[in-house]
Amino acid sequence: MKIIDLRSDTVTLPTPAMREAIYRAELGDDVFGEDPTVNRLEKMAAERVGKEAALFVASGTMGNLVCVLTHCARGEEAILGNQSHTFLYEAGGMSALGGIHPHTIRNQTDGTMRLEDIKAAIRDDSAHFPRTRLICLENTHNRCYGAALTPEYTDAVVTMAKKRGLLVHLDGARVFNAAVALGIDVRKLTRSVDSLSFCLSKGLSAPVGSVVCGSSEFIAEARRTRKVLGGGMRQAGIIAAAGIVALQQMVDRIAEDHKNARRLAEGIARIHGLSIDPERVQTNIIYFEVATDRLTADKLVTELSKRGIKILCVGPSRLRMVTHYGISSEDVDLALAALDEVMANV
Ligand SMILES: Cc1ncc(COP(=O)(O)O)c(C=O)c1O
Repeated sequence: MKIIDLRSDTVTLPTPAMREAIYRAELGDDVFGEDPTVNRLEKMAAERVGKEAALFVASGTMGNLVCVLTHCARGEEAILGNQSHTFLYEAGGMSALGGIHPHTIRNQTDGTMRLEDIKAAIRDDSAHFPRTRLICLENTHNRCYGAALTPEYTDAVVTMAKKRGLLVHLDGARVFNAAVALGIDVRKLTRSVDSLSFCLSKGLSAPVGSVVCGSSEFIAEARRTRKVLGGGMRQAGIIAAAGIVALQQMVDRIAEDHKNARRLAEGIARIHGLSIDPERVQTNIIYFEVATDRLTADKLVTELSKRGIKILCVGPSRLRMVTHYGISSEDVDLALAALDEVMANV
C-alpha cells in the first residue's frame, strides 16, 4: 500500500542530489573550524538571510536554545507567544538549562503578539521583577496554521524592543515558507532581528540540521553555547552537505507545497462533518476539526492510516496535516478521497 505521510514536513527524505553531496562531502574537524563543507554552509546561510555569520546546529530546538542562552543570563526573562513552539514543545529548555524565565503572551490567530501586549509585559526596573531581556517571534507560526508574519510586523516589534533596550530572536524554522508565501526576499523577514534559527530539515528536506544566524560577535558567543550543549559535531560536513543542496535547490519549490496545502484545505471544506477555514492556510500547515460527535480525531487518524494516509491528532477533535517534498498533487487527491470515504461511513 502506498503511504502518504502528512504528519509533518520533518518526515521528508533527502533528495538524490543531497545523497550525492553527502557521499562527496569534503570533511574536517568542525570543532577546530576545519570542516570546509560546514564552513561553506554557514557562509551561504549567513549571506542568504543577510547576517554577518552563522552556526550549524543539530536541530531547531538546539538553534532556539543556543540563541536564548546566548542572549539571556540566569534570572532574566524572555517574552514569547503562548502558542510558540519554543514555549510548548522544546522541553522547557530555557528554564531547565538556563534559568531563564519565560513570560508568555497570547498569540493572535495570525501568529502575532499584539504590540500593546508585548509593551505591557516588559518589566519595570525593580528588584521584585526578573529583567526582561528578549522577545521571541516565530515565522511561520506552526500552531497558528503556518501563518506568515510580515516584515512590517517584525520590524515594528524590533523597533519597540530597541526603544526598551531589548533583543529580538526569530524562530524561523520555516522562515523560507514565509518568504515564499509573501513573495519577498527572506532578508526582509530577518533584517531587523538580532538572531534567528532556521531549519534545513523541514520544508527544505535535508535529513538533519538548523542554522543560527546573527552578528559575528553573537555567533562567536553562540559557538561557545553550542559547545556547552554538546553540539560541537566533528566531521559535520557529512550532514551540512545536504543543507547546502537544500538552500540551493529546495527553496523555490516550497510554493508547490503551499498550493497542495491550499487544495487540501479547500477539499476538506467540502467534506460533510469536517470543519476548516481554507483562507487561513497560507503555507504548508493545515489544521482542521472533526465537526460531528459520531467520530473522534483519534478514530479518524486510525481509519485514514488503514488507507495509507498518515495525519496527526492534536486534540480531541483537532487534526493537522503538513505538505512537503514527496507529496504530489495526486497524493492530495488520494488523501481527500480517503477522507471522503471515511466521513461518508460514520
Ligand atoms: C516552529 C518550530 N520551531 C522549532 C522547531 C524545532 O525543530 P527540531 O524538531 O528540529 O528540534 C519546530 C519543529 O517542528 C518548529 O515547528
